[in-house]
Amino acid sequence: MKTLRHYLDETACEEPLKDLIELIAYQSIPIRDAFIDNQTYADTENVYGEEQAALDKWADQHIISVLGESGFVKAIASEEQADIVRFPDAYGDYSVVMDPLDGSSLIQVNLAVGTIIGIYRGGDPLQKGEDLAVAMYMLYGPMTVLALTVGDGVFTFAMNSEGIFVLLKEDIQMPEGKLFGSGGLRNEWLPGHQDFISLCEQSGGKLRYSGSFVADFHQILTYGGVYCYPAVVGKPEGKLRLVFEGNPIGFIAKQAGGAISDGTQDLLTILPEKPDHRTPIYVGSRKIIESAESCMKQ
Ligand code: F6P
Ligand code: MN
Repeated sequence: MKTLRHYLDETACEEPLKDLIELIAYQSIPIRDAFIDNQTYADTENVYGEEQAALDKWADQHIISVLGESGFVKAIASEEQADIVRFPDAYGDYSVVMDPLDGSSLIQVNLAVGTIIGIYRGGDPLQKGEDLAVAMYMLYGPMTVLALTVGDGVFTFAMNSEGIFVLLKEDIQMPEGKLFGSGGLRNEWLPGHQDFISLCEQSGGKLRYSGSFVADFHQILTYGGVYCYPAVVGKPEGKLRLVFEGNPIGFIAKQAGGAISDGTQDLLTILPEKPDHRTPIYVGSRKIIESAESCMKQ
């Protein structure tokens, strides 16, 4: 049985980075425990005007307080915070970007949701996705699964009955599959995106879209295909966030041999303008992302 720690000890990661990864990964235990008491909406909105679930707020506060106390991180950019949270006295020199609870509309229906995390070296969380040191997510499905890359392939771990993450799959390569899923209302899609979805349908693609980016991406990582949340009429920037969602997931996709694009360019090369920078997203198998980009060009 190979644990998360065994795996980390085989990587080139420095000790404090290993400790930080473990610390974050194991927050999945208290977060999972908090589901039962946080099933409602919180009567507040986040900076994007989205209704916050009680669990969004709980997970956000919980991770911020654990990381603040740890002394590992100089800054946290969270989807649930308008501003970057800074810890100038931290002895560690990392910054964390996070979507504490992704897919929150699914909490009340007990479908899979997750926590998305990126770690940069240094105190600036507004860096390009390609400069991430670590990207990971914890997926709260029937099992708690951790997908992790430290820039040397993608590995998944499942939590066992003793609360330990054990290796599930190593060095995952995303196949060229045929699953596809798209956010946005069909009658608001732009012509290039409509063409791309028609192409997916005509080439025998099967629709898979749950409403949780992390869960939908995990399926694409395993079977191949594409998840997209496009630009729509009146919203050229789409819905998803570059810093907290696109970059960590894209870094994982690329490490698994896949790709991520905003429809015109590699998402990981974009320098975020602000924490709440939004972007259209196409992520999945490499050839499908290439065909999405060619549809957008026409
Ligand atoms: O975090 C944003 C998010 O909840 C993603 O997890 C998900 O893929 C998407 O929004 C769902 O949006 P919609 O309800 O518009 O399909
Ligand atoms: Mn999200």
